[in-house]
Amino acid sequence: MTQSATQDKKATEFISIASHQLRTPLGSMRWNFEMLLANEYGKIPKKIKPVLVTLYHSNLRMIRLVNNLLSISRIDQGRVVNNPDKCDVCELIKSIAAEIQAEAQKRGITGELHFPKKPIPAIVIDSKRLTEVLQNVLSNAIKYNKSNGLIKVFVKKSRKYILITVCDTGIGIPQNDIQKLCTKFYRSDNATAQTNEGTGLGLYIVKSYIEQWGGKIEIKSVIQKGTTVHLYLPTDPKK
Ligand SMILES: Nc1ncnc2c1ncn2[C@@H]1O[C@H](COP(=O)(O)OP(=O)(O)OP(=O)(O)O)[C@@H](O)[C@H]1O
Ligand SMILES: [Mg+2]
Repeated sequence: MTQSATQDKKATEFISIASHQLRTPLGSMRWNFEMLLANEYGKIPKKIKPVLVTLYHSNLRMIRLVNNLLSISRIDQGRVVNNPDKCDVCELIKSIAAEIQAEAQKRGITGELHFPKKPIPAIVIDSKRLTEVLQNVLSNAIKYNKSNGLIKVFVKKSRKYILITVCDTGIGIPQNDIQKLCTKFYRSDNATAQTNEGTGLGLYIVKSYIEQWGGKIEIKSVIQKGTTVHLYLPTDPKK
């Protein structure tokens, strides 16, 4: 092994250990914030509540980051967990959309889900990882959208694939950057200017998982107009 490969391996091991160790205390903080906000420890003074909500959201951001780091280290170590089970893709999209709705509403963003009339048969896939994929793409569509923007999600089925398309009316991506987005830590300048919330890991995870299943991701974008992400999910994903 070359010196740089050894260093990469050590870095991945460190990320893996650190993110594992951070999960437990962050989880305990989350649990306590949720108890506090539900008044389980008594009524919270009016002045304190917004502070607690801010802390809670920072805690959730840290959990998301640590989970992304853990996924990255698993991908890089070739030990991605695979627990395939029957999954109704449209139902999964509906539940993720419901979870992130509050985040979208805060910025006046509306979402539309367009599913085919004929139900799509369940596929056998690791739904935890598919959730990660969809959460990452949908959270980008919110984060890089404009205030009062729109997000449309379309699901279509062909013989080989379920095609999930997420369109937003956001800041768009510079053409020269599109092919670099799925590499680790890459963020476009216009995205960095819009928000410092983001580490450039989400799409790397999305691409790795989709390709492991035998599918692909395509990104099209017009600067200042919006972005369209196509996820081709095989109807019979590789195990
Ligand atoms: N819908 C989108 N509209 C505009 N730019 C986008 C969109 N989705 C992704 N990008 C660009 O691709 C980059 C990489 O996206 P990715 O999801 O990997 O990372 P991130 O959103 O910056 O951070 P995180 O790790 O929290 O997801 C973003 O920083 C942004 O430059
Ligand atoms: Mg992202």
